[in-house]
Amino acid sequence: MITTKDLRIRFSDGTAIRYGDLRFDSGRTYALLGASGCGKSTLLNMLAGILTPTEGAIEIDGENACAWNQRQKDAYRIRGIGYIFQDFKLLEEMTVADNINLLRLEGVNTADMDDLLDRLGILRLKRRKVKRLSGGEKQRVAIVRALIKKPALILADEPTGNLNVETGEAVVRQLIENAGGGTLIAVTHDERLAPRFDHALDMNAIARFEPGEGANGHV
Ligand SMILES: Nc1ncnc2c1ncn2[C@@H]1O[C@H](COP(=O)(O)OP(=O)(O)O)[C@@H](O)[C@H]1O
Ligand SMILES: [Mg+2]
Repeated sequence: MITTKDLRIRFSDGTAIRYGDLRFDSGRTYALLGASGCGKSTLLNMLAGILTPTEGAIEIDGENACAWNQRQKDAYRIRGIGYIFQDFKLLEEMTVADNINLLRLEGVNTADMDDLLDRLGILRLKRRKVKRLSGGEKQRVAIVRALIKKPALILADEPTGNLNVETGEAVVRQLIENAGGGTLIAVTHDERLAPRFDHALDMNAIARFEPGEGANGHV
């Protein structure tokens, strides 16, 4: 289980976002909904340890992850988190298989690659360079790369953002079906996809913007 307590982040320009207390139960699936700019990616990046909260705590299975040192955070991110980025972060000049096998450098066992590629319907693309794939195919490669670690936590930032409605539906269904017992937190601005998840959180209402310091003498 992941919980946040009084979670807040302030950026260098003074903008602050308060998230308060949130709870993500193990093995459940969550959709984060809300308008562009409402704070969805910022939350994912704090849960991944990429951004550090200014205040409050993130507890992972009862441990305060904010108190971990960089080595512990890196270990958790590499072992425990599958992060599917909106822009995929794949190496275009390399094949699908080589992109996934790069994870071996981090000690990840990629023996299940063929099985996962098959389940996502892209096994025939294994030897193809990423630059020759469609957006939906790249999205599926990014999903395989995230799931192959069998992560406890899967973070997906707008996995359907670049896809048409039909492909987006299929990708979300495959992501949920192959989450393998991991907790899934997926950002989507397509409310039609919300019923596919166990829970849908409206980030417009949850993430509160606060004025910069000096606006009323305190924060
Ligand atoms: N490094 C930063 N410095 C200042 N403001 C930021 C920074 N990162 C994000 N923001 C602001 O925080 C808000 C939330 O951003 P983000 O989490 O990316 O939104 P979303 O993913 O919901 O579109 C936006 O208003 C954005 O401009
Ligand atoms: Mg975003």
